[in-house]
Amino acid sequence: MAESHGRPPEPFTLRLRRYDPESGEAPYWDEHTIELEPHRSVLEAILQARDRFDGSIGIRCSCRQAICGSCGVRVNGEPALACHTHLDAARRSARDGVIEIEPMGNMPVIKDLIVDMDAVHWKKIQRVTPWLIGKQPVPEREYLVPRESMVDVTQTMACIQCGACVSDCLAMEVDPLFIGPAALAKAYRFVGDPRDDEHFVRLNDLAQDQHGMFDCTHCFKCVDACPKDVNPMGQIMRLRRIATADHHIVDQNNGERHEAAFASLIRDNGLLWEAELLPRSYGGNSWLGKFHPRAGKELISSLPSIVKALLRGKVTPMGALKPHRIPKQDLKSVQSIYERIDGRDRSSGQRFELNLYIVGEDEPPPPEEPVVAAVVAEAGASAAEPPGGLATEGEQPAEPTSPEGSTSE
Ligand code: SF4
Ligand code: SF4
Ligand code: FES
Repeated sequence: MAESHGRPPEPFTLRLRRYDPESGEAPYWDEHTIELEPHRSVLEAILQARDRFDGSIGIRCSCRQAICGSCGVRVNGEPALACHTHLDAARRSARDGVIEIEPMGNMPVIKDLIVDMDAVHWKKIQRVTPWLIGKQPVPEREYLVPRESMVDVTQTMACIQCGACVSDCLAMEVDPLFIGPAALAKAYRFVGDPRDDEHFVRLNDLAQDQHGMFDCTHCFKCVDACPKDVNPMGQIMRLRRIATADHHIVDQNNGERHEAAFASLIRDNGLLWEAELLPRSYGGNSWLGKFHPRAGKELISSLPSIVKALLRGKVTPMGALKPHRIPKQDLKSVQSIYERIDGRDRSSGQRFELNLYIVGEDEPPPPEEPVVAAVVAEAGASAAEPPGGLATEGEQPAEPTSPEGSTSE
């Protein structure tokens, strides 16, 4: 970005999504060409278009410094803070040189680029009791906690409530009642806080809710969308781990058993075997589990999707029924990770978290890079994912550069 400083103003064309629900007219695209230095922000360009050409363009903003979270939009289809997106970068990512700006997704449009945050985002934040419920008796002075214990929650505290993660959440697209990434990250902010007295109540509530923590499909969209590296999906995974491993919560949505079945299938085969996932989720690892009544019920309700997948050639009967396995040698490596986790000394209270990351490029695939690398990271410590990347086992993770960069993922 530094090279673009000092460059003279240039023309940039914006294509804005316009919509006024009160007008009764359909949404439409509106184009304006403005002139600004390339390092200026998309927000400045929208404001210039509003000042020069059309005072009715609706955009919300305040700080213009990526702090207040009010200018969330979609730039070329991706969620972004308009004030934190440089014009030259936006033009580079545009498909035809025109910067396309739309309102955020998963929230109703009030006007043009302004969405109704109250109707979705803030309602969901309220749902998770977003304040500390202090331990009793209340101390005469402030609650004292060890400094290290707060490191764990600083990442979620970096959230500016911009709604970018909500905008891109795939689970929310399918189930608008899903509590969602921002609110669940907020919930972790208190579950991870040693001063809060309601950890179990909070976790049980979010686990038993049909639209709660187990509704997340682990798609990483919120991780990519977040301008503050809050890693909402990582916080949801932490909620799940603490709920199931520490508080032994077994939820009515079968989320806990589904995860256990998933993990046991990877341990046994090195790959997910979808046909076995359902019976194991309901009936455990035993062969008889296949005949668990709830597994049968679930299977019947899934039949339309299964038939559709068969008809479209996405699965074949043999492909579904035959166990999916990786080569023996690779399977041993996968199983050694499980052995390391299972064999840990639990008396020390030390937590280990296992994460699988897909590494490498989509286009073109680098032939020599591994497809999947496993990372075993010590939780609670400030071990961080290296910026934009991954550590393989045995490598030292990079030092976090800021509190929000620190993660135990
Ligand atoms: S990872 Fe989960 S919470 Fe995040 S966008 Fe995907 S489904 Fe939504
Ligand atoms: S988690 Fe990130 S993307 Fe989501 S509201 Fe907070 S800052 Fe915005
Ligand atoms: S105007 Fe405040 S975050 Fe963009």
